This record gives sequence, structure tokens and C-alpha cells, in this order.
Amino acid sequence: TYSQIYQVPLPIPPKKEPKKIVTNPVTGKDIWYYEFEIKPFQQQVYPNLSPARLIGYDGIAPGPTIVVPRGTESVVRFMNQADRENSVHLHGSPSRAPFDGWAEDITRPGEYKDYYYPNYQSSRLLWYHDHALGITAENAYFGQAGAYLITDPAEDALGLPSGYGEFDIPLILSSKFYNADGTLKSTAGETDSTWGDIIHVNGQPWPFMDVQPRKYRFRLLNAAVSRSFSLYLAATGTTTKIPFQVIASDAGLLESPATVSDLYQSMAERYEIVIDFSGFAGKSIELRNQVKVGGIGTDVDYTNTDKVMKFNVGPGPVNDPSTVPASLRKVPFPKSTTEIDHHFRFHRSNGEYQINGVVFEDVQNRVLAKVPRGTVEIWELENSSGGWTHPIHVHLVDFRVLKRTGSKRSVETYESKGLKDVVWLAKGETVLVEAHYAPWDGLYMFHCHNLIHEDHDMMAAFNVTDLVG
Ligand code: C2O
Ligand code: CU
Repeated sequence: TYSQIYQVPLPIPPKKEPKKIVTNPVTGKDIWYYEFEIKPFQQQVYPNLSPARLIGYDGIAPGPTIVVPRGTESVVRFMNQADRENSVHLHGSPSRAPFDGWAEDITRPGEYKDYYYPNYQSSRLLWYHDHALGITAENAYFGQAGAYLITDPAEDALGLPSGYGEFDIPLILSSKFYNADGTLKSTAGETDSTWGDIIHVNGQPWPFMDVQPRKYRFRLLNAAVSRSFSLYLAATGTTTKIPFQVIASDAGLLESPATVSDLYQSMAERYEIVIDFSGFAGKSIELRNQVKVGGIGTDVDYTNTDKVMKFNVGPGPVNDPSTVPASLRKVPFPKSTTEIDHHFRFHRSNGEYQINGVVFEDVQNRVLAKVPRGTVEIWELENSSGGWTHPIHVHLVDFRVLKRTGSKRSVETYESKGLKDVVWLAKGETVLVEAHYAPWDGLYMFHCHNLIHEDHDMMAAFNVTDLVG
């Protein structure tokens, strides 16, 4: 068992600098060019055991954070210096299809691929992670995941807590199992879920962070293979929940902050929160996971999976120039429509996870929708798999979550005040999502983001086409 709970400081992934800046010959604008090596490395997790042997971007996990201004294109070269195949998906980017990390678009050991990212979308927390056919879970679990931020001067002008690594902190959650010798336990052979009994933040089990008694912006990404979280804050030794503000979700800022005491975050969802520590000088506040809340999660829990991390608040008062405005932005919701264009059933049959009876390996049948480019569509996503829950991710688009039925839960305020690209289908739930399918044509994936389900084989494709009719 791991005993150093809340004893090791929170690591912050370093910022990745562009290797060079080149000029786009067509637009005359800058392109930021980056290079990553995907390579093996060792990470000491248990102080007295062997290090875990991982494979990650630039040999760290999570990988370094790209920070790029909105409207500046980037080209990222991912060089495969590992012993297995990869494909890189930038989750949250409307990438053109050839650069979207299609599961069969494999880069072999010794090869590289250059990915082009337009970065025109709203500022947000994105993440880059592996998407290789059948081995996504194993690759992401062993380290191939990292944060990518798009910034925007209009957002900076709001006066939110700022400064990457200072008052603007990424918190990348994951949950893993280790072998008795300290190495990471493979997910290979798992066909249901890899829950993990060790909760990590930025690659460190149950860390702590020293904070000042003021506001901080935390960018939460659930990068776990299978574990979802019901997050809340409480002072050490107490169970009273401390409210906090949700300011952004998958596609960036909400229209206005949502004040909550509980935040449900399934895999691949991003939520950005502001915690105001000003009333807690000299105290410690814990970020915890409320296990088995109302049956939303079906995760298997272990001794410490109700804990995430701890904040030790320093003495005060301190000067805090940051604010959280009552209005954050005008969210570009799609022009609304009424008809349900597609119905997708996420279910389990013959030991496989399927969508409308289809698995991704079923090449003849896996294109489940043709969407005329530029149209707004409503998709109905139904979880009809009994005890399983599925966070559903649609590539290319940001969607509006219109409606949730089938459980006691309706759409959460932090889901409806912004746009998303993943929606959690808990037990029995059906959700309507509305999106504008643009600007590119092409074949894109949609799938469950429980990476074990994705690999086995709950993934299909839709084709955005300009052939109307
Ligand atoms: Cu975050 Cu298709 O993935
Ligand atoms: Cu699933």
C-alpha cells in the first residue's frame, strides 16, 4: 500500500516552448512549431520499491503543457521513440481529419508524424493523448497524455486568477494499480474497467499544495482510464462541503460562474474552478471524491479513493487582485433546431461494448452518420448497458447538452452554461446533444472515453460531407 498521503508536493507539468516559429506562406501569420519525443522513462512512485517504467511525451507524465494563443496555428511533430505504435489526438481541437489521431493512422516505432492544429476555437483546456487502435488505454495509462492550453486576451482581461503554475494550476487526475514491486500494472487483458486504487494528480499520488489565502484557478482534467469523480472540498477533519465556482468546461468559459458544492467529472471532461482560500488562512482544505453518490458512478472503490489532494493554506491576509466576474462571455451556442437527427444506443452485447450494434472493427458498418457540413444536428445518446456508465466524446465539435432523462439527474448547471465535447451517460441515462458540424469535411470518431470500453470496441465514425441529401 501507498502510505505517503498528502506528503509529497504537487508537481506542475513544465511549459513546452516552441522549437521555432515559422511563417505560414499563405496567411503570412506565425506558426508555432513543436517537437516531442515519445520515449520510455522511469518514475519513482513508491519510495522503497522499483520505479514505474512508463512511456511518455518527452519522457515525463503528464507530458509538458503547450500554451498557445488563440488564432496562432501550431504544428507538432510527435516522434515515436518507443517500442509500440501510437496515434495522437488533440482532444478539444477541431482538427482536420488527417491530423485528428484516427485510431488506424498509426505511427510506428522510429517514425514521426507532424500534426497541424488550427487553434481558432475559444480558449480552453485541451489535452493531447494517444488514440492508437486497441491500445489507447495502455498507452495513455503508461503516460501518453498531456495538457494543451489555448489562451485569449479577451479572457485575460477578465481578471481571473492567472499565471501558469502560479495561480492558474492544471490538476490532471488519474487512478492506477501497481504491482507489488512498484511497477505499473498493465491494463492488457482487462475488458471491463481499470478503476485503480491509487489516485494521482499530475502524476503524483495524493499530493499536497501550499497555497496563499486568496483565489486560485484550477484546470481539472480527468485523464483516468475508467474512474469518474464526484469532487468536493472540505476542511481537514470535517465533512462540511465548501462551495466553489465552476468557470469553464470542455470548450472554455461558461457564460457565468456556477457555484456548487459537488462536481461530477467523468473521464476526459474538463472543468475549471476557482477556489477562494481567503477565509482559510492557516488551515488545510482537502479535495475529496464522494464515493457512491446517488449511484451515479459505478466505480469500484478502495481504501483511499475518497481522497484526491490537500491544500495547505498559508498565513494571511494577502493582496488578491483577481476577480471572478458575474458574466464571463457570450458562449457561441449552435443555432437551435428541434428534430432528433440520430439516435445512438451504447450497449453491451456478446462481451463487446457496441454502438447501435456496431463495433469499430466492423469497417463496413462503422460509419453511423452522414452529416451535411454546416448543419446543426441533435443526437440522442442512450445508455442501455445496465450497470455501466459511459462518458461519450464526439470529435470535431463542441456540443450543447440539452436534456438528460432516465435518472434523477437533470443537466447540471455547469453542463448547460457552456459547450462540451464529452457528456457523462450514467446508469440508465439518455442525453440530447446539439452541435454545429463544421468547418471541415471528413471522417471523425465518436466513442466512450472509458478507454477500456473504447478499445473493446465502443467506437464508431461519422462522416461530415458536403454532399447534401
Ligand atoms: Cu480524448 Cu477520441 O478522445
Ligand atoms: Cu463506456
